Amino acid sequence: MASLYSCSLAPTIAFVAWLFLLLVGMSSAQLSTNFYSTSCPNVLSTIKSAVDSAVSNEARMGASLLRLHFHDCFVNGCDASVLLDDTANFTGEKTARPNNNSLRGFDVIDTIKTQVETLCARTVSCADILAVAARDSVVALGGPSWNVLLGRRDSTTASLSAANSNIPGPQLNLSALLTAFSNKNLNARDMVALSGSHTIGQAKCSSFRARLYNENNINSSFATSLRANCPSSGGNDNLSPLDTTSPTTFDNAYYKNLQSLKGLLHSDQQLFSGGSTNAQVNTYSSNSATFFTDFANAMVKMGNLSPLTGTSGQIRTNCRKTN
Ligand code: HEM
Ligand SMILES: *[C@@H]1O[C@H](CO)[C@@H](O)[C@H](O)[C@H]1NC(C)=O
Ligand SMILES: *[C@@H]1O[C@H](CO)[C@@H](O)[C@H](O)[C@H]1NC(C)=O
Ligand SMILES: *[C@@H]1O[C@H](CO)[C@@H](O)[C@H](O)[C@H]1NC(C)=O
Ligand SMILES: *[C@@H]1O[C@H](CO)[C@@H](O)[C@H](O)[C@H]1NC(C)=O
Repeated sequence: MASLYSCSLAPTIAFVAWLFLLLVGMSSAQLSTNFYSTSCPNVLSTIKSAVDSAVSNEARMGASLLRLHFHDCFVNGCDASVLLDDTANFTGEKTARPNNNSLRGFDVIDTIKTQVETLCARTVSCADILAVAARDSVVALGGPSWNVLLGRRDSTTASLSAANSNIPGPQLNLSALLTAFSNKNLNARDMVALSGSHTIGQAKCSSFRARLYNENNINSSFATSLRANCPSSGGNDNLSPLDTTSPTTFDNAYYKNLQSLKGLLHSDQQLFSGGSTNAQVNTYSSNSATFFTDFANAMVKMGNLSPLTGTSGQIRTNCRKTN
């Protein structure tokens, strides 16, 4: 009886064991911090040196590289789709409304990719380079560090229409911003933390003109000084820092600015306009360690958006085109 019982159970045990191994196998297809530790052990130090050099050459480049990763991840996942150039028979994302004539840093990514291909040919994806360069940029400008999960592969496709619809624009109100992030499984806390990226970098007059001339919840001395460089017509490409207080330092000044109605973009000030995110802004404004911890966690979460892994996609040799 006992042996009959164990006999009938054996296939079940084998099935459970097989299922366990399958799940372990599946989890190894996920991202990991040590993905290149044997295939390209020096890749992280190579990327870091290149980012440090680009940022010391021009501090704003740190902001531009951080934004590239965001605009990659929000469009069909972190797959380097944002880096593909348009050609006669291929339409990429570079001319999408949020990107056209605004995204920058492509040359720095090319430089890094060339160095990394010399170090380890056909091994490190452009999508992973973007994720690491974003982290190294934040660190170079004084912000928090985090372990970047690796093992993303590169797309062979891009989507202009998804870039136009998924990347939030500066005209959005709080509820639309929350929706844009929740569409990417990022919650309100993540949204407020990630928006702290606007503690660095610049925006064009065309991105914030309406706020200067049509809105009431803006600090009047701040508005007056900005109008000088952003007239009611013309000067579309004139730049202003997103954080006037400390534009090349990754700190919590962005949130302090919001409290004194000095958010540059309409969307920035929406985070502190009496709505559900006011409390989070107050927390980050008074506690930069909490902001740094939440920011780092949210960056890891954003970096996990629908990666291509295993044998999906490819490792591009040139980030601007498919192999
Ligand atoms: C919350 C919704 C967001 C909106 C509406 C938004 C919108 C914008 C706009 C309009 C600009 C200026 C573009 C220009 O005038 O050329 C900008 C710049 C920037 N954004 Fe955002 N953004 C958002 C979230 C984020 C996130 C999540 C990140 C990064 C994780 C980010 C990083 C940056 C950086 C670093 C810059 C400056 C780039 C540079 O100087 O080259 N933004 N953003
Ligand atoms: C696109 O055009 C190039 C030449 O400009 C050609 O080499 C390539 O095969 C074409 N790709 C497709 C998918 O048609
Ligand atoms: C992109 O920007 C350029 C100017 O840099 C402009 O000539 C072109 O029409 C824009 N394209 C789109 C699709 O908006
Ligand atoms: C926010 O914007 C959306 C889309 O434009 C609009 O439908 C909604 O009514 C706005 N919500 C508020 C509270 O203004
Ligand atoms: C506007 O900015 C000035 C100068 O920085 C500051 O003293 C004032 O408190 C701000 N106003 C508001 C309403 O926060």
